[in-house]
Amino acid sequence: MYTVPKLDDFSSAALDSAARELTSALQTETGSVSSESEWKALRDRWMARKNGILTQLNEQWLKAAPGTAKRDVGQRVNELKKLVEEKIDAALAKISSASSASRLEQERVDVTLPGNRRKLGVEHPLIRTKNEIVAVFKAMGYSVAEGPEVETDYYNFESLNFPPNHPARDTQDTLIVAGQQNKPLRERLLLRTHTSPVQIRVMEKQPPPVRVIVPGKVHRADTADATHSPIFHQVEGLAVDTNITFCDLKGTLDRWAKEMFGSSVRTRFYPSFFPFTEPSADMQISCFKCGGSGKLDGGRCAMCKASGWIEILGSGMVDPNVYGFVGYDPKKYSGFAFGMGVERIAILKYGVEDIQLFYQGDVRFLEQFA
Ligand code: DAH
Repeated sequence: MYTVPKLDDFSSAALDSAARELTSALQTETGSVSSESEWKALRDRWMARKNGILTQLNEQWLKAAPGTAKRDVGQRVNELKKLVEEKIDAALAKISSASSASRLEQERVDVTLPGNRRKLGVEHPLIRTKNEIVAVFKAMGYSVAEGPEVETDYYNFESLNFPPNHPARDTQDTLIVAGQQNKPLRERLLLRTHTSPVQIRVMEKQPPPVRVIVPGKVHRADTADATHSPIFHQVEGLAVDTNITFCDLKGTLDRWAKEMFGSSVRTRFYPSFFPFTEPSADMQISCFKCGGSGKLDGGRCAMCKASGWIEILGSGMVDPNVYGFVGYDPKKYSGFAFGMGVERIAILKYGVEDIQLFYQGDVRFLEQFA
């Protein structure tokens, strides 16, 4: 490292050589700094007021020079000062531009890279099926109603003509809220077993004509397996007006079935039982896989178990007893009602093998509906 030599000879040639030595040392030292902290050390070494190289030049060269040489030495020292300042400034400029270049390089963005595609969510197959069912009835002029999932015994059973202890209650076992033994039976809370209580809630609130469609979640005391779930979904329908007949029921549901499963589908009704409808009928559709023949690809059709028909929903003419619970005049009004399982329809429509797939949230299953 450079140290300022003492000068004995102040001749012009000797000063030239001393200046050259300093200049070349300055060149080497400024050329080798690569960080700001190294640069600061360099600056202090050369320019510190106390004992920096420039200060030493004053002390050791200028002050030591004999009178005759003072002028020449003074001029040279001034030139060297200027040079040192310039070079040291330039060294700082060089490292700061190098560091900003490297920062820019680090922050560089390749705009030609393909972006990160975010997956878009889609309707869950059950929601989609529910919406499809509801949309068909909305187009026929039905409005949508909903009701509570925790219901009273009155709405879930009694007002729908399931008297206390009636055996039809056994077909719809559910979870009952605990600790209600001191309440009258009709006020006790349970998880609703069907969407039918909403029929009563709607009729209590408005006079006929009524045309409502009621989607919702329901509960049964069933053990989960490939075809059962203790929580599932239904869509209920109700139409009450003057002169509504069984023909209206058949025509409405036949129309819906064709919208849902295809225009070539046929429907048939056969006797059934529900306490709140009389007569009651289950509706079947001709199998949309085998066209109703029961045969597919030379073998049995698995969709309809070779029968050619698939059961789709329960329905019937509203029992006059039900009107008694809501203050409608059964001599003046008539109506029909129906109820269907959303899972069942989604399973049929999309060929799903296990009902549990709807609830497991496995993206591999769900993304097939995207
Ligand atoms: N609530 C019935 C059930 O869960 C389905 C049903 C059948 C609803 C006939 C109706 C109806 O409105 O008229 O099994």
